[in-house]
Amino acid sequence: MIEKNESVERLLQVGIALSSVEDLDTLLDLILREAQELMGCDGASIFLVEKNKLVFKAMRSGTYFRMWGEEKTKATFKTFEMALTKNSIAGYVALTASALNISDVSQIPGAEQYRFDPAFDEKYGYKTVSLLVTPIKNKKNEVIGVLEMINAIENGKVTRFSGEDKEIAESFSSQAGVAILNTSLTEQLREANFDTIFRLSVAAEYRDKETSNHIKRVSYYARMIADKLRYCTEDCSLIFWAAPMHDIGKLGIPDSILQKPGPLDPEERKIMEKHSVIGAKVLKDSKVPVIQKSKVIALTHHEKYDGTGYPMKLKGLAIPAEGRLVALADVFDALTSKRVYKAQMPEEQAIKIMKEGSGSHFDPEMLDCFLGSLDEVREIRDKFEDKPEDFDKLKDTGNEDLGELLK
Ligand code: C2E
Ligand code: SIN
Ligand code: SIN
Ligand code: FE
Ligand code: FE
Repeated sequence: MIEKNESVERLLQVGIALSSVEDLDTLLDLILREAQELMGCDGASIFLVEKNKLVFKAMRSGTYFRMWGEEKTKATFKTFEMALTKNSIAGYVALTASALNISDVSQIPGAEQYRFDPAFDEKYGYKTVSLLVTPIKNKKNEVIGVLEMINAIENGKVTRFSGEDKEIAESFSSQAGVAILNTSLTEQLREANFDTIFRLSVAAEYRDKETSNHIKRVSYYARMIADKLRYCTEDCSLIFWAAPMHDIGKLGIPDSILQKPGPLDPEERKIMEKHSVIGAKVLKDSKVPVIQKSKVIALTHHEKYDGTGYPMKLKGLAIPAEGRLVALADVFDALTSKRVYKAQMPEEQAIKIMKEGSGSHFDPEMLDCFLGSLDEVREIRDKFEDKPEDFDKLKDTGNEDLGELLK
């Protein structure tokens, strides 16, 4: 065990190291390595909570690695699922969300709900004595996994974990939790990028002719409101990445309607309103959370708070929060931007229209949040302003350098 001051410094270093890992398996292995070193213990393993299961994800063990080498050990202790119940030690910690410091697993009082499962020890001849088991939580304090540290070692002998070990392990676990969630999101986004490219090529049968500034502004406005509403960082990021696809269904609307310079007649309007459902269909059935959120946003960003929107006439809080959020960001941006069918409107006029929509079109709480942050709104608008040359890029000159596009 290292000294207390040293361990605080060490925790800081570990936090920085963990935050730089991009791949989940590498991260879990690093967490286990650091846990072994911080606690001075023989082994460590990680379980993650997935639905109603506890999934054994990774382990490291001084004893097994010496005996069999790292590769054979990891091949032997492959991933497995177990029921999430208070009968197992890991399950108990996950469900109670508090750490257990067990000095000797053979002395667990019969009155406790959890029992040590000796199956692995018996099979491979290892002897587990002390266990320090901590919950890994997200920022909402929900348990996302469990870290088990096995057999504290002092002067070459197995001993118990101290109270101070427990404190350090708890701090370390919260760092590990943040790192695991960040890494999962990074992996998810990488996957989402591929997913999006794939979906866009399918959607290419459909199409559009705008700059990316509108969708960028909408994303930034939506994240700003989410942040002001104190959504956790993960939710703010999810909304930010999901919002850009809110109008993807416009790819299914004919140019004659989408690019019509004037107002739509009722028949055209009916077709135009299909863009929310088309978008949701393009995005449906993805297992990637960002895309799932995009689908909900595409479907619900034209619902209105008083139930007069489309396509489902959802009302109030029955409209998913992300749909209400993007509705607000989208309309404000549409009002303050030039469109083929209308001129840009001055900010005061746009704000007046937004205020008139409080409780009828918009969620009043979200609107207040937005209107209370106009400095930031302006900053975002200036940063992603539409410039004439941006539109020139979209013009078909007939002699483009296609090699340029390939780069
Ligand atoms: P968009 O241009 O991105 O507009 C998004 C939403 O902003 C509109 O949803 C509407 O709620 C709001 N909005 C836009 N301009 C104004 C305005 O001048 N006054 C007010 N009070 N609200 C405004 P909406 O109406 O469901 O329209 C969805 C999409 O349909 C629009 O997206 C646009 O692509 C198209 N669209 C709507 N009206 C027309 C039109 O008159 N002509 C053409 N060509 N397209 C239209
Ligand atoms: C348990 O936590 O009871 C199962 C894993 C282990 O034996 O350490
Ligand atoms: C949320 O759903 O995240 C916030 C509460 C709400 O506005 O529905
Ligand atoms: Fe839309
Ligand atoms: Fe839009």
